[in-house]
Amino acid sequence: MSELVHYEVRDRVAVLTIDNPPVNALGPGVWEAIDEAVARASADGAADAIVLVGAGSTFIAGADINVFKLLKTPQDSMDRSAGTHALLVRWEDAPKPLVAAIHGNALGGGLEVAMSCHYRVAAKDAKVGQPEVNLGIIPGAAGTQRLPRLAGAATAIAMCTDGKPVAAAKAKAAGIVDEVVDGDLLTGAIAFAKARAAAGERRQTREIGFDADAKAAGLAACEKARASLRPEPRAPHAAIDAIQAALTLPFDQGSVRERELFAERVVSTESKALRHLFFAEREAARVADVKKDTPTVEIKRAAVVGAGTMGGGIAMSYANAGIPVLLKEVDDAALQRGLATIRKNYEGSVAKGRLTPEAYERTMALITPTTSYDGFDAVDIVVEAVFENMDLKQRTFADLGRVTRPDCVLASNTSTLDIDVFAQASGRPAQVVGHHFFSPANVMKLLEIVRGKETSASVVASSVKLGKKLAKVPVVVGNCFGFVANRMLAYYMREAYLLLEEGAPVEQVDRVLMDFGLPVGPFGMQDIAGIDVGARIRQYLASVGQTRAEGPQSEVPDRLFEMGRYGQKTGAGWYRYEPGSRERIPDPLVEQLAAEAAAKRGIARRKVGDDEILARIATALANEGARVLEDGFAQRASDIDVIYCYGFGFPRHRGGPMFYADTVGLPTVLARVREYRARFGDYWKPAPLLERMVAEGRRLYQD
Ligand code: CAA
Ligand code: NAI
Repeated sequence: MSELVHYEVRDRVAVLTIDNPPVNALGPGVWEAIDEAVARASADGAADAIVLVGAGSTFIAGADINVFKLLKTPQDSMDRSAGTHALLVRWEDAPKPLVAAIHGNALGGGLEVAMSCHYRVAAKDAKVGQPEVNLGIIPGAAGTQRLPRLAGAATAIAMCTDGKPVAAAKAKAAGIVDEVVDGDLLTGAIAFAKARAAAGERRQTREIGFDADAKAAGLAACEKARASLRPEPRAPHAAIDAIQAALTLPFDQGSVRERELFAERVVSTESKALRHLFFAEREAARVADVKKDTPTVEIKRAAVVGAGTMGGGIAMSYANAGIPVLLKEVDDAALQRGLATIRKNYEGSVAKGRLTPEAYERTMALITPTTSYDGFDAVDIVVEAVFENMDLKQRTFADLGRVTRPDCVLASNTSTLDIDVFAQASGRPAQVVGHHFFSPANVMKLLEIVRGKETSASVVASSVKLGKKLAKVPVVVGNCFGFVANRMLAYYMREAYLLLEEGAPVEQVDRVLMDFGLPVGPFGMQDIAGIDVGARIRQYLASVGQTRAEGPQSEVPDRLFEMGRYGQKTGAGWYRYEPGSRERIPDPLVEQLAAEAAAKRGIARRKVGDDEILARIATALANEGARVLEDGFAQRASDIDVIYCYGFGFPRHRGGPMFYADTVGLPTVLARVREYRARFGDYWKPAPLLERMVAEGRRLYQD
């Protein structure tokens, strides 16, 4: 018998245990091994029923995602999936009750395998889902055909288009799971299987039909769901098409339609981009010279200094992860302000039903307000989130060096300052690291871990581990101005400002970027974040003779700042806002400021095409990204993609700015940089890495 599926008979039930660590993905050989085991159990006179279970921490996390890259053409996919579909039908035809015992996750192909069993029994904390859209594909093993039969079309559409897993209790209510087991799962599943065998029951999902009402309601749900989707990404549309096929065609024909739709999606750029990000996110946590066995500090207690916008959100992230946190402020008034914001945030979650009142109380109790350093000698980490001021940060780090234990991690949430300077002030530079959260820190998932000159490997490894515990996506970056995210953003914004001066209205620039897939364009985003934030950074840089991004500095954002137009919080910024509304209303004043700025710089304003807006902004990002990479501030191109997608909402289905550059073609990107240099000036310098890669005919990513 295969090592991938273990076989034993317990109490006249054949127990088939899939054992393919770490997540029992349906990799090479696993399908075949299950098939062999089901056949053996079917013929085994000592077994009256069969239970399929996963070894380790989960049932099956789905198909092996690595395999998809082997499918070069839709036909490759069609050939392969025919066999898979046939296997599932064969298992469904097993002569004895076949029960899936689900713990951990049954995702994608995992749920599809479970649905081809006659029954599903789940542990209380198990989850089931069809997350394929997150990979730019649709369920490919008849999930779109079996799920609507079990749970109805509306539930199937929701699960296949948003990709979110469903908890066991909800899955039972929906008809996906037959029983939720409170105690030992396998014991419960064996008992369930024996009872079905005794009653002579076997239910084949594929035999469940739709009556006329269910069919009509299902078709209406398909239409409604289609109308609510953006044109791209395409995978959710394909999932609905496949579910519609389930409603209108016999099972076998519906399955063929699903395979065709899957085959089209799996070779698409959208799917390649999303699969790239799946692995990129996990890769980002690895640091070349920090070995896997590097000792880490377990963070059991934390402290945050500063309870402002960021400090409050950071304290919430710790409390949400169950880590007790001291929250320090300068005085009681500031502390109460910070706590009031935290409470308001949690109360909002309670009101929306995302948090129970008990969980709110429990979480809030983990945050201990203070105005002194008492208790700092007991914490494993301190995150500094005081004002962005070098003197203040240096003083704070000197204090932290005194009041904490030598092994305490000292993290700073600075967004622009040189962490090596306050690392020295602490007297313990090896313990100092940047933990750059994004606003709102309790919501945004990106965490840039900034490695200083002397940051120890253990502190880096501990930070990565902690980042995951805080439910963030940690990415290790180097210590340069703006680190990776904000350094790239400066070039993104520079191009947006210059396009505005040249004649593209803010609403056109924003629309182009939103059509591309961003949730909000550059100007709308700045109205949310605050025009004052960037203006103050520019003022500071000007005082030390520096600029954020090479090239002409548009005066327009600074003029808005001088007028007190900081964005949504002041009712006006790049747009105007009616009281209490976030609707962006174009303001002729901004056009007037842009025209004045253009006149001063001797620019003849013109009509700028949508294509040029996208090309200029995407090229600026890719060129600066190549420099960040070559300078070693990002370890790999894919880290930049992860950062920009999680930090600024770059559309995931485009794979991130570097992946997108590869899609456009590096020779085209370079040709654009050269063209812009000729048109606009020498500040458009091709990144040497980009030039070299084009000369050598290389791409950033291999297919
Ligand atoms: N294929 C290949 N590798 C996988 C995988 C899969 N389906 N799922 C997880 N892995 C790998 C990860 O890459 C990671 O590898 P490294 O340790 O080398 O980085 C390892 O398993 C552990 O994964 P996580 O770090 O993500 O572990 P976690 O505990 O945080 O999360 C999980 C576990 C929720 C299962 C998560 O891994 C996940 O969401 N996996 C993907 C699930 C998915 O999308 N399934 C659908 C696949 S497509 C499909 O099934 C099509 C079909 O219809 C047949
Ligand atoms: P903020 O002004 O909202 O809060 C700073 C808080 O620090 C204030 O409440 C202040 O009273 C407190 N403080 C000052 N000195 C203190 C001391 N000695 N002890 C305890 N508390 C003290 O500022 P914000 O926006 O929260 O920024 C904090 C840090 O986070 C800055 O370094 C900033 O650059 C960085 N950051 C800010 C982001 C943002 O979007 N606001 C994003 C990412 C990083």
